[in-house]
Amino acid sequence: MLIDISRRTEIFGSVKIHELQRILKLDSGGFENPRAKDIPFNAIKDVLRRLAIIIPVKDEKIHLLDGVLRAIPFDCSVIVVSNSRRENHDIYKMEQDMITNFHELTQQEILSIHQKDPELGVAFYDVGYDFLLDRDDLVRDGKSEGMIIGMLLAKSLGKDFIGFADADNYIPGSVREYVMDYAAGFFMSESPYSMVRLHWRYKPKVVEDRLYFKKWGRVSETTNKFLNLLLSTNTGFETGVVVTGNAGEHAMTTKLADIMSYSTGFSIEPYHFVYLFDAFGLKAEKIAYPDATSAGIEIFQIETLNPHLHEEKGEEHIKNMLLGSLCTVYNSKLCNDYVRSKVLEELGNILDLWEKPKKNILMPPIGGIDASKFRKLLEGKSETYMCLKQGTTNEGEREEEGRIRGESIQSV
Ligand code: GDD
Repeated sequence: MLIDISRRTEIFGSVKIHELQRILKLDSGGFENPRAKDIPFNAIKDVLRRLAIIIPVKDEKIHLLDGVLRAIPFDCSVIVVSNSRRENHDIYKMEQDMITNFHELTQQEILSIHQKDPELGVAFYDVGYDFLLDRDDLVRDGKSEGMIIGMLLAKSLGKDFIGFADADNYIPGSVREYVMDYAAGFFMSESPYSMVRLHWRYKPKVVEDRLYFKKWGRVSETTNKFLNLLLSTNTGFETGVVVTGNAGEHAMTTKLADIMSYSTGFSIEPYHFVYLFDAFGLKAEKIAYPDATSAGIEIFQIETLNPHLHEEKGEEHIKNMLLGSLCTVYNSKLCNDYVRSKVLEELGNILDLWEKPKKNILMPPIGGIDASKFRKLLEGKSETYMCLKQGTTNEGEREEEGRIRGESIQSV
């Protein structure tokens, strides 16, 4: 792979944000070049073997999930966390059937679970992490909550890197590229605490019957502006370094995933920045993670070669995403009156019912959780948990799971 060399890095305390780097070529010929980094395929493959890709999914078209699954490089483990409908038209059952078939054909390692499985609630409770449970002791709705489940399963597999891919992507080839881009980022990283965030080259839209290759999404442009403002007002130097504030497509080293705090739902991605600025930035009040502080936290921002074409979820969804994103900035420890007033101005009538932006629901780091225990608690008890390993026939796995649950196996 050939990728732009990062020309500038913005340093804020222990956080190092590299300027956007373009993918120049998905494969390469091994030529050293002062303007580009050549990453051999073997190096990418080495990272892929240590990477789990989590797919959060909620009521997406089954064809899209199928394409995403088929696109993820074979060397990665895949973890599907679904919050899809189960009553009447059981979408989750369709997903499970599709995943099972996919595994039978490919033998790729794949784990899956339903977010509302009561045994998940029990497992979280038993490992001492109940921050994402609702009053009925079920995991709350939310993409972020699904991602946390996935991260624990990835940790239980002993993975060093954890990446995410949305399930509503229309171009499987782009998903494959995203995963390779994550691997390239980790290869370039010098710190064990690093994150790779993708910036799509284009996000095509149909405008007056023609395809228009838009550069920026409506929410991401605004979120980036405010994250940069937060940085600028704290350093005294204007910056535009943050271009991936809402990057749903991102990946982290497991070491970093362990020490991050997470915001609920769709505010999870902008909050990554806010949390890192607050906890590891220039004005951090205490050093909670000395290893990370001294190693530095590296953030790579990579511009993909492929465009991103995904399902549109409507105006309300966009509004909520903007609100969630700007609430993270508004409630940052680093936010001053000027930035707060700008956030309020931007949100204008979206705020409507609230006088000021609500605090995001936050979930503390997952590093202290015994992930193996978490998975063991699910094995044999959870009705929806599936663990399809390489080289195992799925019937065997399912028979074993059914035997543990005392059920007979039904063909699907
Ligand atoms: N497990 C789970 N639980 N998955 C969910 C849930 C949930 O409650 N809600 C949504 N998802 C899944 C969707 O099915 C999809 O695969 C993914 O999470 C992203 O949700 P979308 O509803 O498609 O979000 P989006 O496309 O508008 O926004 C995406 O891109 C933004 C950047 O432009 C998300 O990834 C955002 O987080 C991101 O900021």
